[in-house]
Parts: sequence; structure tokens; C-alpha cells
Amino acid sequence: MQINLQIFENGAATSCAVAELIKEKVKATPDGKFLNIAVSGGTTPRMLFELLGNEYEKAIDWKKVRLFWVDERCVEPTDSESNFGMTYDAFLQKTLLPGENIFRMKGEEIPEFEAERYRDLLRKELPARGGYPVFDLILLGMGNDGHTASIFPNDLSLIDSELSVAVNINPYTQQKRITLTGNTINNAAQIVFIITGENKSKILKEIVQSAPTATNYPATHIGNSKGKVDFFVDKTAASKL
Ligand code: 6PG
Repeated sequence: MQINLQIFENGAATSCAVAELIKEKVKATPDGKFLNIAVSGGTTPRMLFELLGNEYEKAIDWKKVRLFWVDERCVEPTDSESNFGMTYDAFLQKTLLPGENIFRMKGEEIPEFEAERYRDLLRKELPARGGYPVFDLILLGMGNDGHTASIFPNDLSLIDSELSVAVNINPYTQQKRITLTGNTINNAAQIVFIITGENKSKILKEIVQSAPTATNYPATHIGNSKGKVDFFVDKTAASKL
């Protein structure tokens, strides 16, 4: 995989760089077209969402953006664990992004039914290539175990699943998850990992330096159809490089 690594001063600068990337991609989106973005959950993207909901609120033509999710925890949207809930709190409750452009995964529904509903939705709303939906931009995080989306090191089969969206279980908490699979993620035009914090530095080093152990990590198997992937990281995450 060709890793385009960019190291920023801190989490704020990293988030700002991603916001600028989104702004430029929206500007480049022709009228009448949408920029289809899928976002992740966890803690790292919160700073980005707060930026998009404040400093970038007026700087981006949100009518051109459609927002989807990479994964969701199978909880109510009001639950503190909800990825949608976090994004709503930090960004969506104050955004100009039209409601009809927001396509959340419904963590409160029966996971298998919701995964099927989301597969159908992506088939209807997005272009496809090789039988998988094509996003313009996917924003990923990485756990300090090398997991990404809700694909964990204990089971890499979702990297090459025939399904575009699947149900999985977090092996550490037994929490059910709905997640885009590897083939859907790798079909995207651009994939950006946002990685901050010293606790990610060991795994990041192994992945960037193609250590033999890196093949155990789902994040290693991510790259777009041209074999490219962007890593926007802060200095602490890059501290072992
Ligand atoms: C999730 C995410 C997951 C996340 C990593 C990193 O639902 O948890 O989508 O893949 O990106 O767990 O999480 P942090 O940003 O909290 O370290």
C-alpha cells in the first residue's frame, strides 16, 4: 500500500487539515453533484466535527455534501456510545447540512436488518464498481490494536467480505456493531486515516514500516483502488517513526 503520511503539530492541526481537505473537495464538486463522505466514530474525529460545526460552517457549501457512516455501535442514537450521537452533538445539531443529506446507520434497530437496509441504501444512493459502493471520501480511525471501522484483529475476514455492510462484534466488549467492510472502504476514491495520540504510535510504526506483524492489523489492509491511503497523524502518534 502506498501510504501518504502527513504529520501535524497536534490534534487540532490534524483536524484542521482534514477540514481543509473536505472544503477543497466540496469546492471541486460540480454543481448538481454530491460529495459522498463516510465518517467514523470513536473519540478522535470529535475535534474535526466541532471544527466543521463552527469555523467551517459557512466555509463549506453543505448542500453538496452527503454524510454516511463507516460504522455504528448497536445502541440508541442518544446513547453515549453512539457514533451518530457524538457527531450530532459536535456538529450536526448546528449544521447547514440538509437533513435529507444525512444517512445514519440506525444502531437501535436489529443489527442484521439494519445492515441489510444500509446495503440497499448504498446500492440506491451511490455509484458502484465491482459490485461495491463507491464513496468519494472515507474518514477512518485506528484503535491501538490496529482495528479500523468495526473490523478487529481477531477476524480479518470482513476485509474481503462479499457483503458491502456487515454486522460484527467488538471482541473486547461483545458490543454488536454495523460496519462497512474492507471491499467497500477500499473502493473509495480517497481514504484518510485520522490518527492522534501516543497510544497509537507503536501500531502506526509497524504499519508505516511494513513490519511483519502489521499484517495482523485490519488498518494495514486498507487502500483505495490505486493502492493509496492517506495518514493524517499528529506528532505524538508519529513519535516512534
Ligand atoms: C468506532 C470507530 C473505530 C474508531 C477507533 C479509534 O466506532 O469505534 O469507528 O474504528 O475509529 O476505535 O477510536 P478512537 O478515535 O476513540 O481512538
